[in-house]
Amino acid sequence: MNAATARTAVTVTTPHSRYDILIGAGLLADATAWQGLPAATQAVIVSNPTVDALYGPALQAMLSAHHARVSRLQLPEGEAHKDWATLNLIFDHLLAQGCDRKTVLYALGGGVVGDMTGFAAASYMRGVPFVQVPTTLLAQVDSSVGGKTGINHPRGKNMIGAFYQPQRVVCDLATLASLPARELSAGLAEVIKYGPIADMAFLDWIEAHLDALLARDAAALAHAVRRSCEIKAEVVGEDEREGGRRAILNFGHTFGHAIEAGMGYGQWLHGEAVGCGMVLAAELSAALGMVDTAFVQRLARLVERAGLPVRAPAMAGARWLDLMRADKKAQGGEIRFVLIESPGHAVMRPAPDATVLRAIARHSATLPEGT
Ligand code: NAD
Ligand code: GLY
Repeated sequence: MNAATARTAVTVTTPHSRYDILIGAGLLADATAWQGLPAATQAVIVSNPTVDALYGPALQAMLSAHHARVSRLQLPEGEAHKDWATLNLIFDHLLAQGCDRKTVLYALGGGVVGDMTGFAAASYMRGVPFVQVPTTLLAQVDSSVGGKTGINHPRGKNMIGAFYQPQRVVCDLATLASLPARELSAGLAEVIKYGPIADMAFLDWIEAHLDALLARDAAALAHAVRRSCEIKAEVVGEDEREGGRRAILNFGHTFGHAIEAGMGYGQWLHGEAVGCGMVLAAELSAALGMVDTAFVQRLARLVERAGLPVRAPAMAGARWLDLMRADKKAQGGEIRFVLIESPGHAVMRPAPDATVLRAIARHSATLPEGT
């Protein structure tokens, strides 16, 4: 199909880059979505076996109009492989193919492929251009936008990486049709996130349209992706390197990253950990007198309706605190949480350990040790 597909665009502007997020159904097969990208003899599509089998050949055929050689690389699937060894597979491929410093990388997949491909692009020959082609809801509403790239370390999530912006983000909403239901729910966690931190009218909309989103209604998904990208683009435009405001995008993530690392990467999906983490962070906000318990209950209800866990896993209190002290927002060993100061407005604050553990205990099947 070469006819232009119905689509919208959101522009991200940072001090050193400006790029579009194209959003629409059928963009993989829409030639206009791929025009105007950096010219290069070679392109490499980085994906994983599942996504490559579904969409790799179509993207390869489309990109063949722009690059003389287009190769495809499959990384092993899943969060457990977001590591040095897998990153090195990208460098091995680029060198084996004789890729030069103009080669364009295309990240075709979810946040794991996107974060790793972006980091490889940031560092291969000191930087080559890359394009995000997100195929999960989570990647379309969050991870493909804003230039955070990297890998995990056994001691902490996303501990090694770089800020490196893509040339373009192409969100083909049609790819969400093949997404497993559990992954759709995981993506909804990051959609819900934007309400409490920035836009309560959007939270109202999500509550009203959650059933449509779960049923993959095309119009509902298009609105959710576009509004999420608008909010993220606005925040990233103001604070690309997370000197301040961008940290609000990590609402629920301090608890969530502790769950992911503590339970073993891949046991809880990132979005599941963030969903539960948002409930814990809202509870902590209430414990510190910022929001009322009705707000916590409202958020917990929505997270649960989205098919996400709201009960924290059983972990000793000391382990929770250790894992959270490894968070990138911690300073001088003090954990700093993204909290909801008032609905629609987030702030970053430390909190007493005992208050944090009590907040976890209120949403945990097993009381953390030390509460
Ligand atoms: P993921 O990349 O692991 O993808 C989830 C699963 O869905 C995978 O098994 C994948 O093969 C499969 N899949 C992807 N697209 C599919 C499709 N269209 N049809 C069928 N199956 C498909 O997980 P994710 O939730 O997309 O991303 C999570 C990662 O994103 C985490 O590592 C997290 O740290 C990162 N993240 C990064 C940022 C950022 O700003 N860079 C923001 C949020 C999350
Ligand atoms: N997902 C958090 C951020 O991009 O800053």
